[in-house]
Amino acid sequence: MRLSRSLLLVIFITLTACTNVEQSKDVYKSDATGTELALQVCSACHGKTGQTVSTLFPKLAGQHKEYLLIQLGEFKEHRRSTPNAVAFMWSFNQLTSAQMNELAQYFSSQAPMVGEPSKSPLVARGKIIYEQGIPSQNVIACSSCHGSNAVGMKEIPRLAGQHANYIAEQINLFKSSKNRPNGVAMMSLTYSMSEEDIQAVSLYLSSLQVGLQ
Ligand code: HEC
Ligand code: HEC
Repeated sequence: MRLSRSLLLVIFITLTACTNVEQSKDVYKSDATGTELALQVCSACHGKTGQTVSTLFPKLAGQHKEYLLIQLGEFKEHRRSTPNAVAFMWSFNQLTSAQMNELAQYFSSQAPMVGEPSKSPLVARGKIIYEQGIPSQNVIACSSCHGSNAVGMKEIPRLAGQHANYIAEQINLFKSSKNRPNGVAMMSLTYSMSEEDIQAVSLYLSSLQVGLQ
């Protein structure tokens, strides 16, 4: 039952997504502003305020403008080539720099993403990995770049409150592929993380409820 329900959800979202991507082509051929695009196109997957409830899509709410702009450029130039980037983001390759700037401004100025508390026993280990790294495996403390509250800064993304499955998926991609070439810093420090380390730190981050900082 659970499996078939989630399968249906995926089919539903894929169909909706395709329709939206088709519509979006018309929208961004026109002179729609970034804010219009955010509300009419991006919101279908990321939510109007970027605080999407669907764990299939990353939250953008309160993400840093610099980081968002870099990623929009990476999608546009087809450099970020993760499977979901290819499937969902590569068609946005005609955005103008004015539209990208306004989109990044729009999502970065929304109230920051908020996580869900977790009762998983892995959270405590995740907090240790985040704050201290795993010295025996050459994993540097995540906090040294992403900040003690995981809110990031400029081109370093906010992680606090992001969906756990999205975080885990991205770490696995940094670890085993070159699909995010702008993330070289992440590739070298994730290669020795085990699946359990990745789950633990992802659950910890997704449980954080830090607000505006
Ligand atoms: C059809 C669904 C869909 C639509 C519409 C969509 N996105 Fe995305 N977006 C995704 C998915 C899925 C990912 C995750 C890609 C990956 O895993 O690498 C993503 C990733 C992103 C990211 C990277 C987030 C991060 O934390 O690195 C940004 C920024 C982004 N989208 C902005 C936008 C903007 C702006 C629009 C509108 C112009 C938009 N998206 C429209 C599905 C969508
Ligand atoms: C040396 C600095 C540095 C350290 C240490 C670091 N990161 Fe990162 N991280 C980055 C940068 C820079 C990016 C943006 C990469 C890009 O632009 O593609 C990033 C991106 C990410 C992303 C993708 C976020 C998104 O929205 O797509 C995740 C998840 C992440 N880091 C988790 C971690 C975790 C967990 C640790 C600790 C194990 C860690 N990082 C340690 C610099 C660092």
